[in-house]
Amino acid sequence: MSYRCGHCGYQSVKWLGRCPNCGEWDTFVAGEQEREHDTSWIGEELLPITRIDLGDVKRLQCGIGEVDRLLGGGLVPGGVTLFGGEPGIGKSTLLLQMAQGFAERYGNVLYVSGEESAAQIKLRASRLNVTDEHLYVLSEQNLHRIKAAVEKISPHLLIIDSIQTTLSDAVPGEAGSVRQMRETSAELTRLTKGRRMSTFLVGHITKGGAFAGPKTVEHLVDVAIYLEGHRGEDVRILRSVKNRFGGTNEVAVFQMQAGGLKAITDPSRFFLEEHQDEPRPGTVVVPILEGTRPILVELQALVSPTGGYGVPQRRCSGLDFNRVLLLLAVIERQLGVNTAGADVYLSVAGGLETRERAVDLAVTAAVVSSLRNRPLPKRTVVVGEVGLSGEVRGVKRLRERVTEAAKLGYERVIVPAKGNPSTRAKIEVVPVDTIEQAMDSLALT
Ligand code: TYD
Ligand code: MG
Repeated sequence: MSYRCGHCGYQSVKWLGRCPNCGEWDTFVAGEQEREHDTSWIGEELLPITRIDLGDVKRLQCGIGEVDRLLGGGLVPGGVTLFGGEPGIGKSTLLLQMAQGFAERYGNVLYVSGEESAAQIKLRASRLNVTDEHLYVLSEQNLHRIKAAVEKISPHLLIIDSIQTTLSDAVPGEAGSVRQMRETSAELTRLTKGRRMSTFLVGHITKGGAFAGPKTVEHLVDVAIYLEGHRGEDVRILRSVKNRFGGTNEVAVFQMQAGGLKAITDPSRFFLEEHQDEPRPGTVVVPILEGTRPILVELQALVSPTGGYGVPQRRCSGLDFNRVLLLLAVIERQLGVNTAGADVYLSVAGGLETRERAVDLAVTAAVVSSLRNRPLPKRTVVVGEVGLSGEVRGVKRLRERVTEAAKLGYERVIVPAKGNPSTRAKIEVVPVDTIEQAMDSLALT
């Protein structure tokens, strides 16, 4: 005879009031040892790894190629995807566009909005040309009623817009509280798995304050994607940060237009659209990484003497401000180029933002080029991190960056000597060790 803790499974030859292992009281039950040898429960689910059949993992595609790619080939039945982003960034817009694609291909889609009336959704849908009759719309916050609607039309895809406006009777608290979000997300996850449908949970994220936001349910979901953008800019970046069915750190680029979000399949070309072949002083093209994808962007610097007794201005958009200040100090010290009496403005054209140190050398070149009022040589791109003593350091994925530059017709690339791009692309690779060498090869000294 033996005893076993019903809570943690700890075994003992005598009955105990409190489990020494997990500390729970009154959990010991007798006769568990016999049951240990009961193998009748073992069914299909216990398999050698070699016999697990993946079958054809079915993927549902919305037809917007960039979205399907980002999702790792499409949505997986039984999968829950968290779709986060700031209010007004375009989540509902993109989801309606996707809903149309899914409805056309697979039939019923249920779009539940807790924020807008059916009429408001219809208005937006007509603007987006979303008209499929298999797309059902429900303006509802109550989880019970949402579940009833799911029972009724058995959608392949359920969209909950948003998780912050969905309310369960099972737990106390207001919609949007952490407790409610956890409960409704968990319940919708169970429903999704049980019915083998796919579900999007929209989560609003407020700038800077991810606390108590949708991040608290990220561990529950299979896939998490975020839509980002800058105020006043129409570029949107969709980013995958978690994917149990595919790769992460992927990005897709969109532009918000009058008829909804339009995928930009060739971001480098898009961001260089305004870039002129004849270089102007202060502009430098640099291949940055968005996720794992290289994108060519134009950096612009304007350096001009501060008038009178004014305080020199330093402004930048799309770049790390403190990093720029540090680079100005390095430029002054290592190149002997003085910017102390000048205003310095820097920006990334097109509204992209990058925190990558791989842009350091391009920032340096842009500042020097503007200050000397001398353009860079034609068809040249620059990439590299800059150290405090003016040394040029290696960057990751150099080969991909160089290849992207070659693909767009650039003829020369200034790269860190450390790190070997070993590319077969048709482009002249110029390795440099220091910013001084870099400025020499750019004829900026
Ligand atoms: P929305 O999808 O409502 O954002 P979210 O659901 O993330 O809060 O996007 C709202 C913004 O998008 C709004 O400012 C108007 C703009 N918009 C367009 O520019 N074009 C369009 O076709 C649509 C539908 C919206
Ligand atoms: Mg919305």
